[in-house]
Amino acid sequence: MNADAAHHTYAVQFDENNQEFSIVGSMRPQRAEDLAACAALFEKSLRSVKGNFYVNVKRLVRLNNIAFKVLADMLVKASGERPDLRISVITSSVVGWSTRKFATLRNVSENIVIEEYDSEFYPGQAFVEDSDIIGLLRTQTKMTWRHERNILPRHGVRPGMAVADICCGIGDFAVLFQKEFNPSRLVALDHSKPSLAYAREVASDFGVQGIEYVYGDASELLLEDNQFDFVTCRHSLQIFDRPELILQELFRICKPGGRVYVSNEKNSHCLGEPRGESIQWTYNEVAKIVAHFNHDIEIGPKSRRLMLDAGFSDVMMESFMVTNMDGDPQDFADIVEAWRDLFVGKMSSMRGDDPDFVARFRQGFDDHVFAALHPKGYAGWPIWVASGRKPL
Ligand SMILES: C[S@@+](CC[C@H](N)C(=O)[O-])C[C@H]1O[C@@H](n2cnc3c(N)ncnc32)[C@H](O)[C@@H]1O
Repeated sequence: MNADAAHHTYAVQFDENNQEFSIVGSMRPQRAEDLAACAALFEKSLRSVKGNFYVNVKRLVRLNNIAFKVLADMLVKASGERPDLRISVITSSVVGWSTRKFATLRNVSENIVIEEYDSEFYPGQAFVEDSDIIGLLRTQTKMTWRHERNILPRHGVRPGMAVADICCGIGDFAVLFQKEFNPSRLVALDHSKPSLAYAREVASDFGVQGIEYVYGDASELLLEDNQFDFVTCRHSLQIFDRPELILQELFRICKPGGRVYVSNEKNSHCLGEPRGESIQWTYNEVAKIVAHFNHDIEIGPKSRRLMLDAGFSDVMMESFMVTNMDGDPQDFADIVEAWRDLFVGKMSSMRGDDPDFVARFRQGFDDHVFAALHPKGYAGWPIWVASGRKPL
């Protein structure tokens, strides 16, 4: 069911399988009666549910007071009539007012709970939304850009395109992209507030204008369908437990005929000499510890399958190796030291690893730094890029 009027465009739906009533869009009625159909569907849904009843307002982006009152009355009445139910209202931090507003209902009814779904929506979120990661991302992009600036045109990038960089991190790729390829529009979206604040600061420091920095959730984008000629998502599918959900969203916002470009790693293939064995052991353990937190840092070579399964055609793939010989070897060493802080300092202690393991795990990173800075040493970090076309 759809309702359309000025600023009043929403859809409601009931998914019986998941016992989920969801409202998407902008609800700004003139009168409470304008929401009669929504209320009727809610009551009908209510009659068919048992146990948990989910009311999903994650993508309800606007709501006037009339609408909030109707929804609040609906929920409170339901909780009174059905004390056997647990009514979970699912909000999103991306819609700034949402959790605060619906949280007031908790005081009214005990069986209404408010869940901000994206405050803890994947296990390792705390690691990547931490401001400590800023330095790491900065050096990584410095090292990868010299490869990607040549790779991107092979995957279809041309000046004047409308582009989105989803999971943009600190936005430095977006800045480099803008300078190199002069897009007509550039949206850079991330779910980390510290990273976005940093991105905006860098852009204003360097007088960069025209990049739209957006706070959002890549698995539930508020961007509309078929908007962008080129959509990038770099080093990020590997940090979600369900990367296919993100790919679906990238597919959706891409124009038919446009392309989606992703880059991913396979950390167990990081290498170095001398001390190759210790380095190899540690990066095999990196893959395992990351899997423990439900991420897959080994996605790189799986990208082709993921893109094809998501419905892309004309999938292109290539790999490149960032090495200590690309530029200043200290940059490579800085990246490895930041990984060490993340994987040993944070993840390993959170997993509760024993001291012998931690010492050996740490040693491999130290040896990788040694290889990177050794006058005859070689150290590498392999990356796979893949892109696919959204069919017409
Ligand atoms: C490994 S970083 C990569 C950042 C950037 N693409 C780069 O290459 O430097 C992963 C990024 O994904 C962001 N992220 C995690 N979950 C997200 C979500 N649900 N929606 C949008 N961004 C998310 C993190 O905040 C982080 O900036």
